[in-house]
Amino acid sequence: MSKDTITLTDNTTGKQIELPILRGTKGAPTVDVRSLYKELGYFTYDPGFMSTASCRSAITFIDGAKGILMYRGYPIEVLAEHSNYLEVCFLLLNGELPTREELNEFTSIIQDHTMLHEALQNFYNGFRHDAHPMAIMVGIVGALSAFYQDSTDVHDARHREISAFRMIAKMPTIAAWSYKYSMGQPFVYPKANLSYTENFLHMMFAVPTEEYTPNPLFVKALDLILTLHADHEQNASTSTVRLTGSSEANPFAAVAAGIASLWGPAHGGANEAVIRMLEEITATGDIQPFIDRAKDRDDSFRLMGFGHRVYKNYDPRAKLIREICHQLVNELGTEKMPLLSTAMELEKVATEDEYFIQRKLYPNVDFYSGIILSAMGIPMNMFTVIFALARTVGWISHWNEMMQDPESRIGRPRQLYVGKDTRDYIPIDQR
Ligand code: ACO
Repeated sequence: MSKDTITLTDNTTGKQIELPILRGTKGAPTVDVRSLYKELGYFTYDPGFMSTASCRSAITFIDGAKGILMYRGYPIEVLAEHSNYLEVCFLLLNGELPTREELNEFTSIIQDHTMLHEALQNFYNGFRHDAHPMAIMVGIVGALSAFYQDSTDVHDARHREISAFRMIAKMPTIAAWSYKYSMGQPFVYPKANLSYTENFLHMMFAVPTEEYTPNPLFVKALDLILTLHADHEQNASTSTVRLTGSSEANPFAAVAAGIASLWGPAHGGANEAVIRMLEEITATGDIQPFIDRAKDRDDSFRLMGFGHRVYKNYDPRAKLIREICHQLVNELGTEKMPLLSTAMELEKVATEDEYFIQRKLYPNVDFYSGIILSAMGIPMNMFTVIFALARTVGWISHWNEMMQDPESRIGRPRQLYVGKDTRDYIPIDQR
C-alpha cells in the first residue's frame, strides 16, 4: 500500500482497489471513497455522518480532543479578545481580517441594509400573537426571496454578495421584530448610528415612550455570544444550508432551512434546557440528586449543558463565556443572576466527579449563554433566535464556499434499502 492510499479488499470477490487519502491543513486524514461504487459496487453506511467528510472547507476548524476552535486560522480566544462580531463576519465571509478601511466600508454596507421591506410587516401581523419567534424567523427569512428577487441568481458572485449583506444586516431586525410582535409592542426601526449589537438591543428593548441606552456590558456580552456562535463547521444546520443550496435553491430559502434545523432541541435549543434545569435545581436547593440522576443508567436525565459531540475537552467557547458571566454578576449583583451560583456549584461538583471526568463531560457553551441572556432580560424563547442571528454569517459563508467549489454537486445521499423485495400487486377485493 502506498503512503497516500488505503487498499480495500473485497473478501467475496478478491478484487482490490486503492483509495486516495486526502490530507487537509489540519484534522483527520480523509479517505476519498468516490470511486468505491463505480469500482466495487458498494455504498458506505454512516448514519449521522459520524465518519464522513461531506465537503472540503477552509472556514472553521475544530479539534474536539484538544478543545480548539478556529475561524479562518484564528483561535476563537484571540478573536474574542481582540475582535468583534462584525469584523468576524468579514473574516468568515472573505477569509481575511479586514483593513480599517475595509471594515468601515463593510460596516456601512451592513448599516445600509438593516431595514426590512415595509410589506414584510404584513407577514408578522399574520402570525398568531403567541407564535414562537423561531416559527416567525423561518417564515420571514423564507419570504425574503420574494422581496429581494434581484439578488437570487446563485451563479452571480455579486448577487451572492448582496444576499449575504442583506441577510447579515436584516437578521437582527427580523429577530427583534419577532420579539416585539410576541410582546404586542410596536416595531422599532434600526438606527445607523448604533453598532450591530447595540442596534439589536435597541430594536429589542426600545419603546416609543422613552429613551433607551443599552448597558455597555450587555453589548460586550452579546457581541461575544454572537462571535462564539458565528460558525461551527459542518453541524446539522450548516449541513442543511449546504444540502438545500446544493440544488441551487436561493440563499434565503437555504438559510430558512438552516433556521428550521437549528430550532431542534438537540441543536440550538440546549441553552433553554439548561435554564429550566438550573431553575429546578435552584428551587430544590440540592444539587446532589440531579448529579445522581445524571449518572444513573436507568434514568434518561442528563445534565444539560454538559458534554458535546465534538468537544471531549473543555469547550473553548464555554471558558470565554464563563468569564463574561463573572463580569456581569459583579456589575449586576447576584440577585439579577440567581442561577449563576447554582451553575457554578454544579460545575464544581460535576467536574470533580469520576463519572464526568472519565467520560470527558465538561460544560459546553450552552451552559452559560442562557444565564447571560436571561440577565439581559432576553426571554428563553428568544435564545435560539439569537443563535440563528449569530450563525447566519456561518451559513452564508459555507453556502458561498460551496457555490464556488468546482467539486460541489447536488447533495444526494445513498441508502441501505431494507424494505420489501419486488412483489405482486393484489387487486383490492382479493386482499
Ligand atoms: N449528563 C450525564 N451523562 C452524560 C451527558 C450528560 N450531559 N452527556 C453524555 N453523558 C454520558 C452518556 O450517558 C454516555 O455514558 P455511557 O458511556 O455510560 O453510556 C457517555 O456520557 C457518552 O455519551 P454520548 O451520548 O455517547 O455522547 P455524545 O457525544 O453522543 O453526546 C451530547 C453529546 C448529545 C451533547 C450529550 O453530551 C448530551 O446529551 N448533553 C446534554 C445536552 C446538551 O448540553 N446539548 C448541547 C450540546 S452543545 C451545542 O449544541 C451548541
